Amino acid sequence: MKNTKIGIVGGLGHIGLIQGACLAELGYLTVAYDYNVKKVEEILQGKLPFFEPGLEETVNKTVKNGRLRFTANVKDLEETDLIFICVGTPSLPSGEADTSQVYAAVEEIARNRENHCLAVVKSTVPVGTNRKLTEFLKDNGLSERVTMVSNPEFLREGSGVNDFWNPSRIIVGAQSKEHAEKVAGLYSPPGVPVIITSWENAELIKHAANAFLASKISFINEIAALCEKVGGDIRVVSRGIGLDPRINPYFLEAGVGFSGPCLEKDLKSLISQFQKVGEKAKLLESALEINERQRNAVVHKLQEQLGTLKGRRIGILGMAFKAETDDVRDSHSLPIIRKLLALGAALTVHDPWIQSFQQAGLDEGEFPEVRWVTSPYKAAEGQDALLILTAWPEYRNLDLQRLREALVYPLIVDGRNMFDPQEMQALNIKYLGVGI
Ligand SMILES: NC(=O)c1ccc[n+]([C@@H]2O[C@H](COP(=O)([O-])OP(=O)(O)OC[C@H]3O[C@@H](n4cnc5c(N)ncnc54)[C@H](O)[C@@H]3O)[C@@H](O)[C@H]2O)c1
Repeated sequence: MKNTKIGIVGGLGHIGLIQGACLAELGYLTVAYDYNVKKVEEILQGKLPFFEPGLEETVNKTVKNGRLRFTANVKDLEETDLIFICVGTPSLPSGEADTSQVYAAVEEIARNRENHCLAVVKSTVPVGTNRKLTEFLKDNGLSERVTMVSNPEFLREGSGVNDFWNPSRIIVGAQSKEHAEKVAGLYSPPGVPVIITSWENAELIKHAANAFLASKISFINEIAALCEKVGGDIRVVSRGIGLDPRINPYFLEAGVGFSGPCLEKDLKSLISQFQKVGEKAKLLESALEINERQRNAVVHKLQEQLGTLKGRRIGILGMAFKAETDDVRDSHSLPIIRKLLALGAALTVHDPWIQSFQQAGLDEGEFPEVRWVTSPYKAAEGQDALLILTAWPEYRNLDLQRLREALVYPLIVDGRNMFDPQEMQALNIKYLGVGI
């Protein structure tokens, strides 16, 4: 058993639960605290709040061996000496990140203990947040109890457990080397680079990494738009670019753009961080604009083929922001669905892991004229077009002939370039991908 006792705030969120379960698996006594009582009650009955490959096994094992414990009572963190802050930092309408959950979490920890602890911020926060939190603690006479450390998280939903065990790097921002080394020493597999730096650098590394990935996607989507005009094929162009080791092939797939709970939110937050210091983030603003254009482009393609969308029936494949997750937070599918509904279309939706708006945590009433089905063929049945929005692997193996027969008008708009246009043409399906 390792000596450090670990606490998690936001212990039933995507980051907190993975972090808590894996640290417990490593041998740390871990208390995962979440103020969402319902989530805590459910996990105590064995129901996880979301699906993540490999997580349920790790949770079950570590709960059973007594290393992982869940609670809705912040007082249970009193015995822990290192607490990870894994609460949400959603976008405000201005694009700025809302850090109120982080402030509330830090204050709650400080007010509910007498002894000292490290509060390690895994949440993605704007540059300057750890310094401001330190001032906040000082102003409230709480600095003896809590010291801030920044330790941004880079795991990806869908491979979160694997990413925990195989991190690409560990970044720790702290004012004291001793505190930074304590955090870095919790789990640093051999060969994994560790960067110990200032709070500001750590906060910037996280935002810059996500902004770079988002920009890379918008870059290839920009080239894809030219491909469509001049008869190029972005898949070939992308391959040709990605073979250059300075570029690499990742995040170079043209499509409907980036989405999900991180890339768009963090990009918007970084843009607003520039604005706050009186600067304009020209490249990043363009990346965001191009992303918006990609979402509109699939709707325009449907309009071009079908004329008005009023009364048209459209099948949608994919609701999750990416494959292998049931997370729809900030999924690109939502604004596209809203746009199609506003234009008068009636929609039939399929997603392998999601069966209703309610299951996705959304308000059904916001989406009239949407019917959920349990198979992609049912999503195509009697529809005027099929729109592919999430690259679920099972969609690759669809029987295209069967799809064609199910559709009233054989039109497929593919926002993920999953199929071969020639094969589609041979089947007499009008197929419109992105940049091909
Ligand atoms: N999801 C990802 O893939 C990912 C990856 C890297 C970084 N991040 C960052 O990590 C942070 C958390 O993201 P997430 O996706 O896990 O969010 P989430 O919404 O899934 O989880 C947040 C959890 O915090 C709990 N919570 C909020 N305030 C609390 C408080 N004061 N006390 C106790 N519990 C509280 C909520 O009930 C919720 O369960 C965000 O800043 C996000 O940007 C997320």
